[in-house]
Amino acid sequence: MKKVLCVCLGNICRSPAAAGVLLHKLRERGLDDRVEVDSAGLIREHEGERPDARMRQAAEARGYTLPGRARPIEVADMESFDYILAMDQQNLDGLARLSRDPGHRGKISLFTRWLDAGELEIPDPYYGGQAGFERVLDLVERSAAAFTNHLEAELSG
Ligand code: 4NP
Repeated sequence: MKKVLCVCLGNICRSPAAAGVLLHKLRERGLDDRVEVDSAGLIREHEGERPDARMRQAAEARGYTLPGRARPIEVADMESFDYILAMDQQNLDGLARLSRDPGHRGKISLFTRWLDAGELEIPDPYYGGQAGFERVLDLVERSAAAFTNHLEAELSG
């Protein structure tokens, strides 16, 4: 079993979208019984909330159901997850500050890491309009597809 944690700032927009799309793609490949997916935020302001309604609606229009309720990341997550995937550089910096064990650093990267385009951020849509949520989904879909290919190779290797 591989465990993947998607991380953003509030855990109500980007990381639940990343988790929902990733789960969908894993199910399509029959890998959902071998990969566990969760999400968390770097701030606790939205703890217990469902994903933002704007994010949910944009995702549902593309056929994705967004799972879970917001929770702040805990230091213990650094131990229990195999992949800790940040949506932007600010999230990555926050995770680096939380990870006391240098052995955990290798688990932490950007969610977009497996795209050919290389390191790319998924911009925070919270204070913007509809286009920002569509941009999140465009990047999340491409990144989740590339990461699913990576996981499939890893699990069969
Ligand atoms: P997220 O978006 O990090 O993609 O969940 C945000 C949600 C809430 C806030 C910022 C970003 N906030 O400042 O409350």
